[in-house]
Amino acid sequence: MQSPTAARSGLHAAIIMDGNGHWATQRGLPRIAGHRRGVEAIRVTAEACPDLGIGTLTLYAFSADNWQRPADEVGGLMRLLRTYLRNETARLARTGTRLSVIGRRDRLPDGIAQAIQAAEAATAAGERLHLRIAVDYSARDAIIAAAARLQDPEIGRAGFGQMVAGEMHGSPVDVDLLIRTGGEKRLSDFLLWEAAYAELHFTERMWPEFGEGDLAEAVAEFRRRDRRFGGLTNPKVPAAA
Ligand code: IPE
Ligand code: IPE
Ligand code: MG
Repeated sequence: MQSPTAARSGLHAAIIMDGNGHWATQRGLPRIAGHRRGVEAIRVTAEACPDLGIGTLTLYAFSADNWQRPADEVGGLMRLLRTYLRNETARLARTGTRLSVIGRRDRLPDGIAQAIQAAEAATAAGERLHLRIAVDYSARDAIIAAAARLQDPEIGRAGFGQMVAGEMHGSPVDVDLLIRTGGEKRLSDFLLWEAAYAELHFTERMWPEFGEGDLAEAVAEFRRRDRRFGGLTNPKVPAAA
């Protein structure tokens, strides 16, 4: 069974892009070299989405907890984000990709929030893919903030989900397929509310080497899964009398 999101606008795939640092150190390179290669993997992966039936792709680029990393790595990542926004916007618009950035904007270095707004405006008409990049993102902080603002305890799941997503500048889209590269098997505070019924796919592939074939494999495996959402939509044995 497909989720309502999937039926409406293609699958929502989300990726925890992990393994950049290991990829680089295994090659004797500085960690930032892995992050740089990771940006190329973003382009390749995003452009493969429409043909695989993915309508929304959410990528975890920088978590709220990643501020704890050494200042030079954080600075390098922020420079890469700035460059990405400057260099990729035209290509995103050309390929029908609408870009959104989710997460907090008030702690980003000067000028980045404006660059995000400009890139979002320039790509707003894109209809082939909605590419969402999560920067300074924390699912737990989103849930806490939404709970603190809650006035109507009868709001329900859909209404509260909208509040949770809104806290991180996003819209509520349930995740169908959640992929994590780099070999670790954890969620690291990513889309905890939205991934309630996501199918999980963990791969050893390091993010800088992730490509169209890996995404196709994850989607093929996803399509073989039996999603039940707590029910018995595809019962393989007769129900007990
Ligand atoms: C993911 O790669 C990118 C970010 C968290 C910014 P890592 O930098 O976490 O790479 P590993 O996990 O150290 O290999
Ligand atoms: C999660 O990766 C965040 C991103 C990929 C942006 P981390 O590398 O920060 O996660 P942990 O520390 O291994 O849980
Ligand atoms: Mg990591």
